[in-house]
Amino acid sequence: MAENTLRGKVAVIGGGEKNLGGLLSRTFAEGGARVVVHYHHSRDEAEETVRAVKEAGGEAVPIQGDLTRPAEVSRVFDTAVESFGGVDIAVNTTGMVLRKPILETTEDEYDRMFGINAKAGFFFIQEAGRRLNEGGRIVSLGTSLLAAFTDGYATYAGGKSPLEHFTRAAAKEFADRRISVNVVAPGPMDTPFFYPQETPERVEFHRSQAMGGQLTQVDDVARFITYLVTDGAWFTGQTLFPNGGYTTR
Ligand SMILES: NC(=O)c1ccc[n+]([C@@H]2O[C@H](COP(=O)([O-])OP(=O)(O)OC[C@H]3O[C@@H](n4cnc5c(N)ncnc54)[C@H](OP(=O)(O)O)[C@@H]3O)[C@@H](O)[C@H]2O)c1
Repeated sequence: MAENTLRGKVAVIGGGEKNLGGLLSRTFAEGGARVVVHYHHSRDEAEETVRAVKEAGGEAVPIQGDLTRPAEVSRVFDTAVESFGGVDIAVNTTGMVLRKPILETTEDEYDRMFGINAKAGFFFIQEAGRRLNEGGRIVSLGTSLLAAFTDGYATYAGGKSPLEHFTRAAAKEFADRRISVNVVAPGPMDTPFFYPQETPERVEFHRSQAMGGQLTQVDDVARFITYLVTDGAWFTGQTLFPNGGYTTR
């Protein structure tokens, strides 16, 4: 990528149909990027996001895939090449959360958690590393739990933690092509992903711990990721924590 702007770039957003990923798809398109909107189950949301991008004068295509299967990760990137001629930016917002004590966690739950949070994260970075143009940007979504000493989230935080090592290795391995690779690790974020694991008391506790007394807002995280893939591209190999729920607006 010759310049630090979204204009003319092609972005693949893993989980780009709704919540944080949906906002990123629309934000990148508003900035002039053409966007591949990956989705898993939420076809209606993907079509709605693509429609919103097009109505705003942008370009986007939807593509379904289970990203725990490397062949499907590859197919998502094929879509970018076939539709738009290449890829510059790859953001993986996919993930799955489970709050459960270690003693109650089954093998199946362990496999599902590590399948989407770690394995899919690895093959997304690998495929992005193969396909991205010189000067590309890769971002994976972690969690602020990566820096926490807490109970209940062993397979979620544990499943996300390999992303930090994959990212550091990739940052060095792709550096000769000036591809930046980072993890963005938000705090508890105000989306439907967060609430099912928590009691109302715990939600209030998380709010009380955040600056501004509110959960992290997707708008703030999307603005931070937009910075990271444009002017902030000098960051690489980092885990960055845009936390606190404090908003500048
Ligand atoms: N919300 C929070 O409190 C919070 C805090 C810190 C970090 N995060 C991280 O931020 C990211 C975005 O979260 P969000 O709040 O915006 O929730 P979200 O929209 O539910 O994001 C998770 C995405 O992962 C997709 N996904 C799950 N399994 C998949 C699979 N096997 N193959 C492909 N895609 C799959 C989901 O699709 P389906 O729903 O169709 O399966 C969904 O699009 C996640 O990685 C999450 O771990 C969230």
